[in-house]
Amino acid sequence: MSNVASRWSVGWAAPILGLAIFGIVGACRGTTIPASARSADAVTPERGEVLYSNYCAQCHKADGHGQESVGAPSIAGLPQWYVKTQLMNFRQGIRGAHFDDIEGLRMRPMSLSLPAQEDVDAVSLYVGTMRPVAPAPSVQGGDAGHGSQLFTTCQACHGTDGKGNEAMGAPPLTVQPDWYLVRQLGKFKNGVRGADPRDVKGATMRPMAQGLADEQAMKDVVGHVMTLR
Ligand code: HEC
Ligand code: HEC
Repeated sequence: MSNVASRWSVGWAAPILGLAIFGIVGACRGTTIPASARSADAVTPERGEVLYSNYCAQCHKADGHGQESVGAPSIAGLPQWYVKTQLMNFRQGIRGAHFDDIEGLRMRPMSLSLPAQEDVDAVSLYVGTMRPVAPAPSVQGGDAGHGSQLFTTCQACHGTDGKGNEAMGAPPLTVQPDWYLVRQLGKFKNGVRGADPRDVKGATMRPMAQGLADEQAMKDVVGHVMTLR
């Protein structure tokens, strides 16, 4: 009889203990996560907003306009599909895993801190709703005239207006700051980004950056991109 009783009490204790722990964790998180965002599989902008302020705003700022001092670009205005692709690339080490990628190495652990795939989806959804920004030029010495000639190569994928093309996997180039765009061109050219064998989209971009002779050419083409805003 006593065996049966203890089996019963263990049988009840485990789920009750589990509920209690869940309750405590839930209470802590419940202070920030609204009811609509609590369900494990709810991919909503509300859930994305909470995740964004907990995991992303520190570097990309609350409005998504970025912070040059930590190398974090403005991401407000990037489309949901591109944000998600990049978060997945960071998570899988396709981007941000090269030892020369100082900024990517800073971003990668942040992508991994999102606990679930639904979190990636929700935060991408939210970023896609943020009001775009066109940061003022800060890179000196770009020749936009020469850049407009160079940009003819880029139009096939990024569009004549630089607004991007989802079918090609090419993001808009009109919402990021110029210092970030120049830096990414350098990373593609040097194989710090886009060289991972799994990076199918990056592989289409890499030869384009390799076709730019030097840093001056990168500044020139970005100088032209800045006139598209
Ligand atoms: C510790 C600072 C930091 C935090 C926190 C952070 N990021 Fe980043 N993020 C960066 C840096 C730095 C880069 C630029 C990487 C590079 O130069 O390749 C970046 C790049 C990105 C990019 C690529 C943008 C592009 O145009 O390709 C996306 C998307 C992004 N972050 C989204 C997020 C999201 C969503 C979160 C929250 C889950 C987040 N980041 C949290 C620092 C951070
Ligand atoms: C064949 C298509 C194609 C052409 C042509 C092309 N790109 Fe790209 N570009 C891409 C793709 C795809 C990506 C996104 C790669 C990824 O998913 O990481 C990209 C990414 C970029 C990025 C990084 C943006 C960010 O937010 O991190 C920059 C900057 C860029 N391209 C500039 C250029 C310039 C300048 C040219 C012309 C010299 C050019 N691209 C030509 C396909 C192309």
